[in-house]
Amino acid sequence: MTSLHDVRRDYTGEPLPEDPATIDPWPMLSHWVDDALALGEPEPTAMTLATVDAGGRPQSRIVLLKEVTDSGLVFFTGYGSAKGRQLDARPFASVSFWWPLQMRQIRAVGPVRRVPRAVSEEYFASRPRESQLQTWASEQSEPLASRADLLAAVVDTERRFEGGPVPCPPEWGGFVLEPDTIEFWQGLPSRLHDRIQCTLTAEGWVNRRLQP
Ligand SMILES: Cc1cc2nc3c(=O)[nH]c(=O)nc-3n(C[C@H](O)[C@H](O)[C@H](O)COP(=O)(O)O)c2cc1C
Repeated sequence: MTSLHDVRRDYTGEPLPEDPATIDPWPMLSHWVDDALALGEPEPTAMTLATVDAGGRPQSRIVLLKEVTDSGLVFFTGYGSAKGRQLDARPFASVSFWWPLQMRQIRAVGPVRRVPRAVSEEYFASRPRESQLQTWASEQSEPLASRADLLAAVVDTERRFEGGPVPCPPEWGGFVLEPDTIEFWQGLPSRLHDRIQCTLTAEGWVNRRLQP
């Protein structure tokens, strides 16, 4: 394999606000997501979701951010999947976004809970029919003997719901992460990156700059 030691590039960008106290993390997070959408990041809403399993081992994978509420980040998944079970058992998570065109990262950590059923049903109804059928056909995170089995399960599901709407599966829906810590990271030249960490306290958000 090629040596990775010399794989590096210099980052460019604008430093974060001089005074961390001027940052209101929630509008800033929405603003950065909007920037990622507007500037053509290839998968702007993809975020790495870290959970902890029953043995205390961290597990991470990518999910898509589907809604930003006044206090939370919403994503959808199978409640019976590995991550779904981990979140029900230990309802805390960390997510991180990486937007390489802008050299920006956001990390957010906090408690997680299931969204109300009506929210999941509304989002499920907005998905393309193929995605809806796939969700019924796949028991996410369970072993699969062959691809053919999955395709056969999709065909069965198509027959089952033929001519009618596909309802939201009972064991599928959203989680909302309500962060109590959010960090904004901006890549800058010569590895002199800029970081501001915002922590939610009883008095509101308290922000501080961290060494890169
Ligand atoms: C770009 C991208 C987007 C994804 N979006 C989702 C998603 O929104 N929800 C989801 O359950 N899995 C999503 N996945 C698949 C997950 O990364 C993961 O493979 C799957 O959810 C099973 O994870 P688990 O076994 O840890 O529960 C996505 C994967 C990628 C690469």
